[in-house]
Amino acid sequence: MLKEISVNLINFILSLSDAIDLASPAIASHQLRTAFVAWQICKAAKLSEETVEKIFIAALLHDIGALAPEDKIRLHDFEEKNLDTHCVRGESLFESTPLLKPAARIVRFHHRPWKEWETPLDSPNVLESQIIFLADLLERLIKRDQYILHQVENLTSRITSVSRTDIHPDVVELFAMISKREDFWLDLTSPRLYSLLLHYGPFRPVAIEIEDIYSLSFLFRRIIDFRSFFTATHSTGVAACAVILSKIFGLTEAETTLMEIAGNLHDLGKLIVPNSILNKSNKLTKEEFAIIKQHTYFTYMVLNSIEGLDQIAEWAAFHHERLDGSGYPFHVSADKISTGSRIMAVADIFTALAEDRPYRKGMDRKEIENILIVQANKNFLDKRIVDLLLQNYDEILIQVKEKQEVSRVRYEKEFAHF
Ligand SMILES: [Fe+2]
Ligand SMILES: [Fe+2]
Ligand SMILES: [Fe+2]
Repeated sequence: MLKEISVNLINFILSLSDAIDLASPAIASHQLRTAFVAWQICKAAKLSEETVEKIFIAALLHDIGALAPEDKIRLHDFEEKNLDTHCVRGESLFESTPLLKPAARIVRFHHRPWKEWETPLDSPNVLESQIIFLADLLERLIKRDQYILHQVENLTSRITSVSRTDIHPDVVELFAMISKREDFWLDLTSPRLYSLLLHYGPFRPVAIEIEDIYSLSFLFRRIIDFRSFFTATHSTGVAACAVILSKIFGLTEAETTLMEIAGNLHDLGKLIVPNSILNKSNKLTKEEFAIIKQHTYFTYMVLNSIEGLDQIAEWAAFHHERLDGSGYPFHVSADKISTGSRIMAVADIFTALAEDRPYRKGMDRKEIENILIVQANKNFLDKRIVDLLLQNYDEILIQVKEKQEVSRVRYEKEFAHF
């Protein structure tokens, strides 16, 4: 029987924040570090617990609107001139999730310089956004190949130099207070920052239940998929197909909901795959395919680091494993591949074959059937599940396409025009 799942909210958000920054070692932990600085400034400012929590959440996911690794790296390296796009997208992503909604405006304005604010520092969202502005700028100025205490002088003078123009002097003053402490800098660059934030971060211990996990999985589905036209509806299709197959197979309602969450998150690890590989229109080289192969590893690592999500982690991350052990990256075989993972593997292949890809059109029924039957006969896929899919082909295809159409419209409305 399936136990009711409940996870610690901060554990969940920290892991997802970390997942976004896996894109490149050059930006690793950017958001965790920004959140740490923001938290320390909040402490110095003696803000209320509730406000600190809101700023902390905003900081942890402030660049959520920069979808491709390339976008994140450009932002981080001060190469991006258009800072608005990821802020607008970030706001819309926050708006769509009840837990994040209160922090949406802060994300919208995290790059607005002080001179462009026409309202006092204590009006809604101004101080909050300014704190993240400073924290984000500071984090990007840090040289990752140099010892942090050797950089303090330079970093503090860079921040002071934008006082009044970019950052309100009071916020710079708060930073001056905390920047005197060596432990501030050492914590900030510590490899143990994740666990420091998890155990001591400004967060009331809130457990979130299935409804919130469900809604966060939709948010992440958009970040994973809305990077390009070709991937825009993929996880929607996989989740929809997995749900129908789970129902026909006889999984319980609760298990089916978890399968939908797992389907939404199955390609979470693709956040680290550059768009140049993901959207490539001809055959991938061996080296490029090796990069793709990390994605399910990271899906597993990120989800499995959230206590209580182990079942979802496995169902999501084993979708390229094969029953004979020839899949990747874990090379587990039949005895270690549960029904949920088997369903997900079939749902993923079916959806992928039916979709247009940069290098080919979506396949027709005959071609899809042939491929699935061959894969079942070779003992890659579970024959029982392939049979269920083929017996219910029309119904499944219609439902998958319907759901994908909804996502496509949303993608075009919110993301494609940028
Ligand atoms: Fe940003
Ligand atoms: Fe940032
Ligand atoms: Fe995948």
